[in-house]
Amino acid sequence: MAKCVGRELVEAKGVDVDRLLNALVERALAELGNYYYFTLVRIHLLGVDGEALRRIIEQVREQDRHHFEMLVPRIYELGGRLPETVEQELGALGALRVLPAEADVPSILPIVLRAAEESVHAYTDLCMMTAGKDRHTYNLALAIRRDEIQHQVRFLEMLGRGAAEPRLQTSADILLSVAQIGPPIPSVGIARA
Ligand SMILES: [Fe+2]
Repeated sequence: MAKCVGRELVEAKGVDVDRLLNALVERALAELGNYYYFTLVRIHLLGVDGEALRRIIEQVREQDRHHFEMLVPRIYELGGRLPETVEQELGALGALRVLPAEADVPSILPIVLRAAEESVHAYTDLCMMTAGKDRHTYNLALAIRRDEIQHQVRFLEMLGRGAAEPRLQTSADILLSVAQIGPPIPSVGIARA
């Protein structure tokens, strides 16, 4: 295998690069899958009483596509690669895969909220995996995680406090953990979604 400087630098800091690459590839496929499934959700919402949710989903969908494009260069910098085919992977990842063929707003909201929660947890794991060891990936994961928390909050707002009571506690815990993970490292600039 050809030497990969990016991989060696991170490996020297004590990162399990194979594990990191698996997580990054999984995230990239999940983002691509979310883009695909949010496209379906958007179509499902056409013509029903879901205009407000449709507008949010349109923005989240575009951000998830951007997240995919943010992740891919880092995967290759670390010597990884995306799979040749993605049919199985896209079908297996994430809450959106259980989206019913026909659904109204009350049934779609918990599904998209769960997808956002999964993303926040996954990027929290990536931050933990790279904190103090891989500045580039850490800042990348932190920036995307910030977007995913915003997605979660917007879906929670739509659900309403009463309906979302159990999840609000989860969200509060996650928001609190932003401080525990720490800020981005200032010397590396990562474009926000
Ligand atoms: Fe995303």
